[in-house]
Amino acid sequence: MTNARQLAAEAAAQIADRLGGGFDATVVLGTGWDDAVAELGELEKQISTTELAGFPASRVEGHGGTVGAVAAGDRRLLVYRGRVHLYEGNSAAAVTHGVRTAAAAGCGVAVLTNAAGGLQPHYRVGGPVLISDQINLTGTSPTEGTEWGTDRFVNLVDAYSPRLRALAADTSPATPEGVYAGLRGPHFETPAEIQMLRNMGADLVGMSTVLEAIAARHCGLEVLGVSLVTNLAAGMTDEGPSHQEVLDAGAASGMAVGRLLRGVIDRL
Ligand code: HPA
Repeated sequence: MTNARQLAAEAAAQIADRLGGGFDATVVLGTGWDDAVAELGELEKQISTTELAGFPASRVEGHGGTVGAVAAGDRRLLVYRGRVHLYEGNSAAAVTHGVRTAAAAGCGVAVLTNAAGGLQPHYRVGGPVLISDQINLTGTSPTEGTEWGTDRFVNLVDAYSPRLRALAADTSPATPEGVYAGLRGPHFETPAEIQMLRNMGADLVGMSTVLEAIAARHCGLEVLGVSLVTNLAAGMTDEGPSHQEVLDAGAASGMAVGRLLRGVIDRL
């Protein structure tokens, strides 16, 4: 049976063939971050991830399912538009295949973006928040299973790189930081669950990113995480969150948050 490392190496070889090499960083654009790609740099070429080994089809509206080579100044980026989620019925291995493939393709940095509900009333809807740490509530890990050796016990202290967070703060000084809680979803949370998350120390809630961050650290990548706050979390407003609201907030802010990412890339 092909293991995760072999599958990532296979996909990376296909990327080298189709998109070339010399990648410095990978950027995973989450829900609503699609417009950010234009601000990152020049999209040289892109293909559907389903043309590569190991990627399942993504069917969520707002998730493109492509991977492209973007020239950002003298940096070369491997940019995923759309990601794979647990809630589509995928395994932790499938969810993290893109990050592992990026590492195998030579990237040293992973920029993970997402749409999130904000638990802090002062967060601006449509604004970015730098992820300072995470709480993995998915009940799974990309390093469980039979294929990993003792390196599976990955150290997650400073998982979100202090160096990259400082670069982001330098680019955009007023950007707040927060702890991201990753749940399986796909239902939105109840107000009681949001209260529980607040008591746990979470500032942001979403349905992605946490497994990718673990896999990225396992592969030795430096990680920057940025959430776009698309709504205040359940119970904080009269109406609960909706998928349309998440997409709309992303569409309205994609370009501005793209500029933040480009600022960090330029300072790498
Ligand atoms: N909860 C979970 N995931 C989300 C939310 C939310 O409120 N907003 C965007 N993604």
